[in-house]
Amino acid sequence: MQIISNIEQMQQTILSLRAKGTTIGFVPTMGYLHEGHLTLLQQARKENDIVVLSVFVNPLQFGPNEDFDRYPRNIERDEELARTASVDYLFYPSVEEMYPTPLTTKVTVTARTEVLCGEKRPGHFDGVATVLLKLFNITMPHRAYFGMKDAQQVAVVQGLISDYNIPVTLIPVETVREEDGLAKSSRNVYLSESERKEAPHLYQSLQLAKQAVEEGERDPQAVKAIVTNYIITHTSGEIDYTEVYAYPQLTELERIKGTIIVAVAVKFAKARLIDNITFTI
Ligand code: PAF
Repeated sequence: MQIISNIEQMQQTILSLRAKGTTIGFVPTMGYLHEGHLTLLQQARKENDIVVLSVFVNPLQFGPNEDFDRYPRNIERDEELARTASVDYLFYPSVEEMYPTPLTTKVTVTARTEVLCGEKRPGHFDGVATVLLKLFNITMPHRAYFGMKDAQQVAVVQGLISDYNIPVTLIPVETVREEDGLAKSSRNVYLSESERKEAPHLYQSLQLAKQAVEEGERDPQAVKAIVTNYIITHTSGEIDYTEVYAYPQLTELERIKGTIIVAVAVKFAKARLIDNITFTI
């Protein structure tokens, strides 16, 4: 595995690989790798000749009161895991390398962001879209892998790719869960012992919602109430949102129909957890 921190060196490497007809699979991350990332890497490994992993904690996607400074980082561990996952190139730029001078243009996401995390984190998806536009131009992948845990991110990135004709195929990958159902996340380390025990109830509330829809419930408000009541009863967390939308449009539904997303965000003392399920009825 080669570790590259310089943008030009990364681009030159990719250009010479592409010239030989090599296919490139790309997994963008903010590091502190967990099994969710490893699943993305495994799938990229299967479907491409070369796997590029990026580790970059992107300041642009954190709000002023969010956890940019506190976000967990451990590059030595990430390096080791990347080697085990047979990554070919680890792209690990500094903030100065990625943003040497203030940007002169800005990527603003104009749809799919007024809801869910976008509503609660103004500017977050602009930061995600900006860094991904840069990372796609730097790593020039054929395929890029994203976890469905961030289903809104998947919808936004799909929009970015098609709006700007970026020659990359987005591959959405199923959420990876702990045995008790908790979605894997770098932020799970912030949970206290008792919160960790409560956290799987997020997924259970989503399963209950799905079951209700499968049994005939078609009112989004009723489905939201099932999720909200279950979380209030079973956790000490504070609900940030419980939502039911059409997916990937992320628009309101009067009646449940087609592919939908049921999504929750719950604030615990030091961690805000999100989870969702998408399914078609
Ligand atoms: O999902 C993430 O970790 C980040 O939003 C991403 C896609 C790496 C962009 O910084």
